[in-house]
Amino acid sequence: MLTLLKLLKDGRFHSGQALGASLGVSRSAVWKQLQHLEAELGIPIHKVRGRGYQLAAPLSFLDADEIALQSSGSGWSLQVFDSIDSTNAEALRAIDRGVPAPLVVIAERQTAGRGRRGRKWVSPFAENVYYSLVLRVDGGMRQLEGLSLVVGLAVMHTLRELGIAGVGLKWPNDVLVGSKKIAGILLELVGDPADVCHVVLGVGINVNMQVAEKVDQQWTSMRLETGRMLDRNRLVALLGAKLQQYLDRHRKSGFAEIQAEWEAHHLWQGRAVSLIAGSSQTDGVVIGIDNQGALRLNVAGVEKTFSGGELSLRLRDDS
Ligand code: BTN
Repeated sequence: MLTLLKLLKDGRFHSGQALGASLGVSRSAVWKQLQHLEAELGIPIHKVRGRGYQLAAPLSFLDADEIALQSSGSGWSLQVFDSIDSTNAEALRAIDRGVPAPLVVIAERQTAGRGRRGRKWVSPFAENVYYSLVLRVDGGMRQLEGLSLVVGLAVMHTLRELGIAGVGLKWPNDVLVGSKKIAGILLELVGDPADVCHVVLGVGINVNMQVAEKVDQQWTSMRLETGRMLDRNRLVALLGAKLQQYLDRHRKSGFAEIQAEWEAHHLWQGRAVSLIAGSSQTDGVVIGIDNQGALRLNVAGVEKTFSGGELSLRLRDDS
C-alpha cells in the first residue's frame, strides 16, 4: 500500500492505468488500495475522471540514506518503520533482542504512541517526528540525573536552529511555544539503574501537523509556527547531532554543569503553579531546579523539592 503512496507523493495526477502498471496490478486493485489509504491513514486523495488520482498535498517520507548523509558520522544505527505501535516499544523490544546501542528508531506513524502519565501521543502518518534513542548506561545513577531535562534542551535547540524562535521548556520535559506544546519526551528504563541499564529516550515533535483530533492539550507544530513545510529528514539528523552534543556534556560533567542553562530556558521560572501527584496538589512558586533536575518550589515560605515521572505542573489562575 505504501508503495502506491510513494508513487503519488509528488502531489501530481497519476492515471489508474499508470499506477497499476507500476505495481503490476489492475486499475480496480489500485482503486481499492487508495480507498484503504484514505480510510486507514486519513490521507485525502483527489479522484478526477480522465486525469486519475492526486494527493490533496504532496508528501515527503523519512529516508534513512538522506538522514545518514546529513548526520556527519554519528555512528548511531538507525531503523525506519512505515508504521509501528510505538517507537519506544520497538526500542525496548530491540534491547530485549540484544541489538547493540546506540540505536535510533523512527517511524512514519505510531498506532499506539505513548505519552507521559499513561496518555496517548497522537501520531499521524508522515507528518511529525516519532524518535526513540536507545542508550546503554553503565555509570550508575549519576548518568541518569537530569537526563530527561538534557534531552529537552537538545530538542529545544534543534527547533530554534530550524527557526522556531519562541520555543522554551516546562519542567520536567515539555517543549512549548508560549503555552502550546510542540514536543514531548518520554524516558523508559530497563535494567538496574544503580548498575547497568538501558534507557530509551523517546521524543515526539509536532512538525507538519496542522489539524489533529483527540489531542487533549493546547498544541502547535513547527509548520503552524513558521508557515512552512519542514524537512523531517533534516530535523532527525539535526536532533541526533544536538542529542549527541548534550549527552556528551552530561556524561562528562554531570547535570550540575547544565542546570543553569536549563533554568535560563524555563518558561515557568517565578510562576505560581500547582504540582499534581495523583490526587494530591501542592501550590507554590517556582524557584528553579536543583543540580539533579528536581523542581524547587517555594511552598508558603518553605523551599521544597520534587522529582519523579508521574508529576505534572499547572499554572495557577493567579499566576
Ligand atoms: C509526553 O507525554 O509529553 C511525552 C510524549 C512522547 C512521545 C514520543 S513519540 C516517540 C516515542 N514513542 C512513543 O510511544 N512515545 C515517544
